[in-house]
Amino acid sequence: MITTFFMPTRIVAGAGSLATIGYLARDLGMSRVLVVSDPVISVQAFHGAALTSLGEAGIDLWRFDECGIDARCSHIDDQGERVRRDGIDGVICIGGGSVMCTGKGIAIVATNHKPMRDCTGVGQFDRRALPMIMVPTTAGSGSEVSQWTIVKDEERHLKLLGGGPLSFPDAAILDPVTLGSLPMRVAALPAVDALTHGVEAYLSAIASPLTDAIALGAVQQQYGSLRVSINSDDAAAREANLIASCMANIACGNARLGHGHALSLPLEGHLDLPHPYGVGVLLPHVIVFNLAVLPNKVRPLAEALGIEVAGLTRAAMIEACADSIRSLYADIGFPTRFTAEQLPAQRVREMATRAVPGLYAGIAAQDFDPATAGDHTLIACPSARKMTVSQAQAMLERCLG
Ligand SMILES: [Fe+2]
Repeated sequence: MITTFFMPTRIVAGAGSLATIGYLARDLGMSRVLVVSDPVISVQAFHGAALTSLGEAGIDLWRFDECGIDARCSHIDDQGERVRRDGIDGVICIGGGSVMCTGKGIAIVATNHKPMRDCTGVGQFDRRALPMIMVPTTAGSGSEVSQWTIVKDEERHLKLLGGGPLSFPDAAILDPVTLGSLPMRVAALPAVDALTHGVEAYLSAIASPLTDAIALGAVQQQYGSLRVSINSDDAAAREANLIASCMANIACGNARLGHGHALSLPLEGHLDLPHPYGVGVLLPHVIVFNLAVLPNKVRPLAEALGIEVAGLTRAAMIEACADSIRSLYADIGFPTRFTAEQLPAQRVREMATRAVPGLYAGIAAQDFDPATAGDHTLIACPSARKMTVSQAQAMLERCLG
């Protein structure tokens, strides 16, 4: 099998690294910059310090601080037009996944002169996005090192993924000072998403030795430090989470994502379920489903999840992997099932059929008619094991509260 591995993003990491942002912006040729953030992050002291560093480097600043839970196509299109109109030559994102996906979308549409939804799918634009610097404030979506942006088309109730090698961020700054702005329960959400990225990259049919090494390292580091970082102010554990979420996305950016993300997508688009709940609740089931066809991958994943594997059969190791995820969730206050409001039982079949186009279809997914999917229709997904609509339905039903 031929595989390709991309990682062009410069990563500057460690306590104090945010102070380099002015130098980095100049080094990337930026002089007129749009800083993208949200109403919570934009009033934090570290955000102000970043703006000061940029000002001292002689960078002229524009701001957009109105990002919400999702990266909205309407925000992206409006700000992309503003960037073109005002001659802005760089985008800096300071925030979580939706902030970084918003900024990445702005950088894409600014140079490609078409609406965000027409840039979704794989490689659906042909001009390099504007230079980007990402400063993640959660550990995290991993969007800081990802070519992909996940956006919401509010009119069509679609969550859409878009990107390609032309939309990698140019630099990412991983400074643990940014992680202190979230309460524990909120911080657990992106951390679970990051854990899912590492596991799903490992379970992919297009995984390679390169992505497996990084994915397993990410899972081991994230799993090993998450209880401590979520339940305390331990700076070393938080920094470990930040690096692990970045590693997980380097892996899944290349090996791609699996059934958790594919099945979560319609729940996010049609039921407004926050992304980490969708992928996180599905994760133990996704592990069991895929490891069944990956016998050589069972032990390494079990060991990365801290399981004492001596004396365990392969089947027992697979169950122990799922149990270790559930045990972690119990300790960090994350659910193992959807509530009736998050996923009504009567909509499970519909959601399973809406998952058929998969995560990477982009706007082409709007042309798919769920009524054409039968029990044996396959979900488009790069995971190692093929999944039919009836299997997807059964998995979602096991997640009902
Ligand atoms: Fe995710």
